[in-house]
Amino acid sequence: MKLTSRHLLGLDGMAKEELALILDTAVSFREVLDRPIKKVPPLQGKTVVNLFFESSTRTRISFELAERRLSADVVNFTTAASSVSKGETLKDTARNIEAMKIDMVVIRHAAPGSAHFLTRVVDANVINAGDGTHEHPTQGLLDMYTLREKFGTLEGLRVCIVGDISHSRVARSNIFGLTTMGAKVSVCGPATLIPKDIEQLGVKVYHRLDGIIPEVDVLNVLRIQLERQKSGLFPSLREYHRFFGVTKEKVSKAPKPITIMHPGPINRDVELSADLADSEHSVILQQVTNGVAIRMAVLYLLGTTN
Ligand code: CP
Repeated sequence: MKLTSRHLLGLDGMAKEELALILDTAVSFREVLDRPIKKVPPLQGKTVVNLFFESSTRTRISFELAERRLSADVVNFTTAASSVSKGETLKDTARNIEAMKIDMVVIRHAAPGSAHFLTRVVDANVINAGDGTHEHPTQGLLDMYTLREKFGTLEGLRVCIVGDISHSRVARSNIFGLTTMGAKVSVCGPATLIPKDIEQLGVKVYHRLDGIIPEVDVLNVLRIQLERQKSGLFPSLREYHRFFGVTKEKVSKAPKPITIMHPGPINRDVELSADLADSEHSVILQQVTNGVAIRMAVLYLLGTTN
């Protein structure tokens, strides 16, 4: 089996079999990461460009490591050190880079749809590393991988995504991927940060953490985007923490331990208490490790069969 598209733009509309193919392929690459020599040859001779127009720690480093572990040649692009700072457009930037004979492009950009746009202007395989509020498909995949690793299956798993759902590409990719794989997904947050018709995506909505904590296996806690406070979507960080901050005390009310996830970067003691982030119930660093294996799987599947 192979993926139906030459690109990975989002998890919306991907078939269960395709998602399972990526997760299964990542299992063997996860094993490579534990070897003394963490390198395999499938992308030898291929050139991958990482186009990052927005800041990133985890995703950028994870993609670069995944590419190098697969023996690809890697070129990194960041806005500040490029001709974008002189006004060059995304289209011109991408076409000039492709003229240097590259095979794959990984793009992060603040504009939703930028990865789709790129597929219309270059022939290379395009991988979306986060486009505005739209999708972050490899984050959704690494979250699913981490949960499948811990629970054995995603079928019937009760996952609640907590926080600013309206502005979160992580939430959207998780919702699309997890519901397709049979998980029971809910969202929890202030009404101002949850899209009005989100139930149409197959999720339940909660506005109180104490209402959902007894009902779930997993809380995936989103970063509260501090810049949103200025737009009046929630009164203060202190108030947000009081009602929606996930803490040891709040999760202790659950009948059994809840697994804690966070895509990073964490605002410690705002959306998630520092002690819970560092506790034995947190899989946050496993998410980061598994991210390299997931990105290796995606690069491998697109670069060798599509
Ligand atoms: N999870 C995530 O996308 O983190 P970065 O912004 O550091 O890449």
